[in-house]
Amino acid sequence: MKIAVVGTGYVGLVSGTCFAETGVDVVCVDVNQQKIEKLNNGQIPIYEPGLEDIFKRNVEKGRLQFSTDLASNLKDTDVVFIAVGTPPDEDGSADLKYVLGVAGEIGRSMDHYMVVVTKSTVPVGTSVKVKNAIQAELEKRGVDIGFDVASNPEFLKEGSAVQDFLRPDRIVIGTDSEKAQTVMKRLYKPFLLNGHPILFMDIISSEMTKYAANSMLATRISFINDIANLCEILGADIDAVRKGIGSDPRIGNKFLYPGTGYGGSCFPKDVKALIRTADENGHSLEILKAVEAVNDRQKSILFNKVKQHFDGELKGRKFAIWGLAFKPKTDDMREAPSLVIVEKLLEAGATVVAYDPVAKEEARRILGDKIILAKDEYEACIDADALLLVTEWPEFRIPNFKVLGKLLKNKLIFDGRNIYDLAELDELAFTYYPVGRKSIIH
Ligand code: UDX
Repeated sequence: MKIAVVGTGYVGLVSGTCFAETGVDVVCVDVNQQKIEKLNNGQIPIYEPGLEDIFKRNVEKGRLQFSTDLASNLKDTDVVFIAVGTPPDEDGSADLKYVLGVAGEIGRSMDHYMVVVTKSTVPVGTSVKVKNAIQAELEKRGVDIGFDVASNPEFLKEGSAVQDFLRPDRIVIGTDSEKAQTVMKRLYKPFLLNGHPILFMDIISSEMTKYAANSMLATRISFINDIANLCEILGADIDAVRKGIGSDPRIGNKFLYPGTGYGGSCFPKDVKALIRTADENGHSLEILKAVEAVNDRQKSILFNKVKQHFDGELKGRKFAIWGLAFKPKTDDMREAPSLVIVEKLLEAGATVVAYDPVAKEEARRILGDKIILAKDEYEACIDADALLLVTEWPEFRIPNFKVLGKLLKNKLIFDGRNIYDLAELDELAFTYYPVGRKSIIH
């Protein structure tokens, strides 16, 4: 079996590499020549735990190849995955020019039956457009070659994408063709030996499933954040409340951690896209609009606490930030709460010294020299007025508080992820502001 994966971004690269692991021949195609050259030299452009190992092994075996040429790689291909980007266009909706561009190219070059699968997260209704784009090119050529389209949304989490791919909770495939179902079943069977299901459905429902899943998860986060803020006002402890509600199996204990709001490449974009799709179809998704508003507000809570603590006088002060990535185990800073916090501190005239174990280059690229990047977490704290914990990297969990107490100008921590123990910090005489829990003031 041979497959082509078009687009060597995060989804395409992880998918292509993991498919190769089952013995399938995979070619990953991208128009970006520089990227393909780097991949051919063994350089992986993203940080994703476990990826490098599988990548190297399959490249050595000759099962994983990289190319800029889609047309010639379609010759003996059974399945083509479209995993190119859908950047927001001027009005915020997903720009489908790359997805439909690839579809057109497939139509211009294919010479036998294949299944064309959309893996990019695309607005509901896009797979039909993909089908039409391919069909239009075939008609121009005056040839009658059969093909099927399918939608196969990905549910990968950054930082554990390889594990998620190798051991998925479920695979969702939208297609109206039995032939395509058989091909997709064969391709995914090796990943479902754990008994987890492959769910076949119609194309629109499959496209909708992706948005509904991410919107539901985003809703949980905004819900718990809003409840956390109320806990803070009323003197309740969100950590107890979280456990209290999470032990009801109907609610479940996952994805109920309060923080500084969700970021990343998926939730913000997908929630916006679904709101837009609904609006365009005459239906207003009130819940999701609130989810978005709560999330925007949440990104400022840490800054607001800092501002209140210092009576609004932040000019000339220096703040240490631990963690810039939107979550641990990734270097991705897209829509990261850290960006809002940094901007607000800078606007208020403060200096920011930050440390992130991985997102250093990203920070440089996005923030330039607006902030100082420390070489480790302790250096960031030297003479800082306070420490702000923004991303809960494992290595920040048990710091040496005695050393911190000496390095910081004030024994003062604003914790955006509730990772520290109230009693311990109290004993060490730190002033500590968590989220949705009682603060300790010394
Ligand atoms: C998400 C979905 O989980 C994944 O299925 C989909 O394919 C892509 O979008 P990802 O963006 O990688 O994955 O990150 P995820 O681990 O889901 O976290 C998203 C955001 O929610 C992060 O900013 C995280 O800090 C925040 N979050 C998550 C919380 O604030 N609280 C939680 O309890 C969980």
